Amino acid sequence: MMNRPHIEFVQAQMLPWRRIGAGLARPDAEYKMLSRDPDTGACSALIRFPPSWHREGPEHLAAAEEFYVLDGQFHMDGTTYDADCYAFLPALWPRHTMSSTTGCTMLAFYDREPALRAGAFGLVEEAHRRVIPKIDATKLPWDMTLNDPKLRHLGISRKNLRTNPDTGERTLLSLILPQSAPEQGKGPQEMHPCVEEAFVLAGALSGPQGTMYPGAYFWRPAGIPHGPFGAHWGAVTLIRFVGGHHVNEWSTQEIAFDMRPSYRPILPPHLAHLANEPWTPPPSY
Ligand SMILES: [Fe+2]
Repeated sequence: MMNRPHIEFVQAQMLPWRRIGAGLARPDAEYKMLSRDPDTGACSALIRFPPSWHREGPEHLAAAEEFYVLDGQFHMDGTTYDADCYAFLPALWPRHTMSSTTGCTMLAFYDREPALRAGAFGLVEEAHRRVIPKIDATKLPWDMTLNDPKLRHLGISRKNLRTNPDTGERTLLSLILPQSAPEQGKGPQEMHPCVEEAFVLAGALSGPQGTMYPGAYFWRPAGIPHGPFGAHWGAVTLIRFVGGHHVNEWSTQEIAFDMRPSYRPILPPHLAHLANEPWTPPPSY
């Protein structure tokens, strides 16, 4: 069902912008493909709209779409999405007008090929139950309750954006405290029975594959041990658990933690060359 390769991790800065062709979601905008399932066309991408981008429908996508605005402003059917606004639109959801005056960059997730088709038609009741027209994440409180004692050292807080009650799939923001690291410089590895996908929005998050800066992205299939993690100056990450409920399963073996690891990514063949081009953020002072 899901056949995306393990990517852990790339900095989106290392990937090229490409023009979106006719017949796909948001034609004439640009995208960076973060990951894609070659069998179904399900994909995760950055989408960048130029200033004055405008589109008249009605039209719809074959895929369900989730998006999270990173910068700029996006308008759709009378709703304005500023930075940190999120939406989930089920497959076949109609769009009548879409535009961006300022230009806009968003993270977008599609559960199959986002084929674009003209027209709007009646939606099943379930679509109306599932749709999330807009969440302004800046208005949500951080949930600071501890959900796993083995992650106490990270002080993880969450803002839940979406839970699919049938599958357990979730989309959330995760906050990790500054100067957090496993005690004694080592810790167990965690593993989940579902995919974990993440995009770093702020800060820096260190683990065995390197330090992830804003723009870092990973797609980790189910059943792969990972961590331990720490964050020198904290990190905010958008996380999706895909294809099942998120459960932490812990290894008995402990792995050494390094706050300044070198870049040792796990990459599929088409991205393998990036392993030799570690990306570091520009100096801040
Ligand atoms: Fe995890």
